[in-house]
Amino acid sequence: MDELWVNVRLATMVPGPEPYGRIDDGALAVSDGRIAWVGKAGDLPSGLRNGAGRVHDGEGRWVTPGLVDCHTHLVYAGSRAAEFEQRLQGVSYEEIARQGGGILSTVRATRAADLKTLVAQSLPRLRSLMAEGVTTVEIKSGYGLEPSAEFRQLAAAAELSRRLPVTVVPTFLGAHAQPPEYDDADDYIDAVCGKMLPEVARRHLAAAVDAFCERIAFTPAQTARVFEAARGLGLSVKLHADQLSDGGGAALAARYGALSADHLEYTNAGGIAAMAAAGTVAVLLPGAFYFLRETRVPPVDGFRRAGVPMAVASDSNPGSCPAGSLLLMLNMACTLFGLTPEEALAGATRYAARALGKEMRIGTLSAGKDADFVLWDIAHPAELSYGLGVNPCHTVVRRGRISEPSPR
Ligand code: NIG
Ligand code: FE
Repeated sequence: MDELWVNVRLATMVPGPEPYGRIDDGALAVSDGRIAWVGKAGDLPSGLRNGAGRVHDGEGRWVTPGLVDCHTHLVYAGSRAAEFEQRLQGVSYEEIARQGGGILSTVRATRAADLKTLVAQSLPRLRSLMAEGVTTVEIKSGYGLEPSAEFRQLAAAAELSRRLPVTVVPTFLGAHAQPPEYDDADDYIDAVCGKMLPEVARRHLAAAVDAFCERIAFTPAQTARVFEAARGLGLSVKLHADQLSDGGGAALAARYGALSADHLEYTNAGGIAAMAAAGTVAVLLPGAFYFLRETRVPPVDGFRRAGVPMAVASDSNPGSCPAGSLLLMLNMACTLFGLTPEEALAGATRYAARALGKEMRIGTLSAGKDADFVLWDIAHPAELSYGLGVNPCHTVVRRGRISEPSPR
């Protein structure tokens, strides 16, 4: 049965002459969980107007596409609050990692957690994002670093998508850190490429493969091995690149046709050009920059000039950004990185969808796409980037159905 949403102002986020793809006095028709029609209410075909099974009055609210958080590590166990205290005393993120803390401390807690515990600890994190209109979320593994624990994280991500009205896009991040039982990182990369990746592909456990290319993680050569294996199995790739140093990660990601390269604080001009040529999305993670008290900002102007699309994501994780808010990241993308509010919102809708390879299904209010959208109590879409710890979300619709508010 078709449903109709009327009396709404649309920020379709479709590129064009109108900022935000704005349509005042809009209407949106939903059929079978998809957007059947979207446009000016006056242009609504009479068949749709008269045949609608139910008409919703948006009471003049703004409607945007459902938000897309295209980079999270929200399935994990434990907390790193004690490391936060250490860092505030002057110990760096890299030093903590070299001492066996950091990612490895979350690996210990995550390995010790069963599926039920992992799901229970991750649910509130996901609910918090969803309460602000997130309808699609990417979730990475990477805190198991051995087959059973990595796959348990991915199973937890799948379970979350069964429990909550949200689309989960799982990513395999086996090459996140060198696990303690390996003396040689290359041996671990052998296991990732030879054992884990084939199983990920065979069991369809993840849509894409990520890696952490950094001084405290894996070299460009090791990363390239992971990408070779992933591409050979038909899996998409993406990369944690140039976060703490310039390791040529952006160019490496582009060389393998990566969907996205993420972080990018230290990305050089060659990396920008390579990303532009490959169509690789730049995923900006201002929350991690903020929480690690970094000072080097990603080359946003360079991305703009080269036409590299920029997405904005939460990076929700226990070490560098224990965030429960994507709207806060929009604010930080503007205040810390200099994005415009329109760029920030495009970064959490249209370009985040592209970073997940899902731009044909989600990310804009367009006929044929999934009916994932949000009604907001705001006077202008810039307010989504303006508030700090403010949640103006009124109603979330996913695949055409109103999501019941769930406790945080
Ligand atoms: O995106 N950079 C690597 N991975 C995460 C942090 C992981 C952690 O510290 O637990 C990130 O910042
Ligand atoms: Fe990350």
